[in-house]
Amino acid sequence: MEQFGNSRKLESFKIFDQIAPTYDKLNRILSVGIDIYWRRVLRSHLPQKHELNVLDLATGTGDVALTLVRDQKVAHITGMDLSEGMMKVGREKVLKLGLQDKIEFKNGDGVTIPAPDQSYDVVTVSFGIRNFPDYQESLNNMKRVLKPGGRALILELSMPHFFIVKWVYQFYFRYVLPFIGNRMSQHGDAYTYLNKTVENFPCGEKFAKAMRQAGLKNVRFTELTFGIATLYQGDCE
Ligand SMILES: C[S@@+](CC[C@H](N)C(=O)[O-])C[C@H]1O[C@@H](n2cnc3c(N)ncnc32)[C@H](O)[C@@H]1O
Repeated sequence: MEQFGNSRKLESFKIFDQIAPTYDKLNRILSVGIDIYWRRVLRSHLPQKHELNVLDLATGTGDVALTLVRDQKVAHITGMDLSEGMMKVGREKVLKLGLQDKIEFKNGDGVTIPAPDQSYDVVTVSFGIRNFPDYQESLNNMKRVLKPGGRALILELSMPHFFIVKWVYQFYFRYVLPFIGNRMSQHGDAYTYLNKTVENFPCGEKFAKAMRQAGLKNVRFTELTFGIATLYQGDCE
């Protein structure tokens, strides 16, 4: 199992570099478009403040940034990722929409988060934290870079509880998704790897506990679409 353990997570951004050209298209197909709805739910949990300065970790091709920028409360978004290939696709999308004054991309690790203390109102991560080699350290640093009154919003795939949904989900994730994903992205086992990271990642109360351990307050989570994804929220006091 080490193949899917931390050593692979340290280099997971290289997999994303390779699948970047097909990532958006495959995301839409493999999630049947639900990922768009999930990112909108994330947006609806932004704090009720104005001129929000947002940091989106593991930003990939910028879909969270492009969703959040539609909210009037958002002033600026920095998308951070280790994959230049994914951010290249993101930069092209931002340029095409003329949003380069509002969204910028920076190369940076979502675990160490190269940003000054208390510099952001909101930190987001969507479908990224399970790829990080140390999610607790990432949460600690999210808390560090948040301003007092700031909020962390984390969207991640999770394991549904209800057994029929869980069975269908596992079948889809173990067999259907890797079959389609690996072929369409023309990458040997990228989507087999992505499936394993979901099954092995803590979700629900377990993950909420890690957020509290990082010092975040009012931690709560909302299960989305039968618990296939979960949105976590934690505030910085
Ligand atoms: C599944 S994609 C998610 C992209 C985007 N957030 C979305 O919602 O579509 C995961 C992203 O995490 C990035 N990633 C993996 N490890 C990382 C790390 N340690 N620091 C920053 N980004 C990382 C990958 O390069 C990839 O772009």
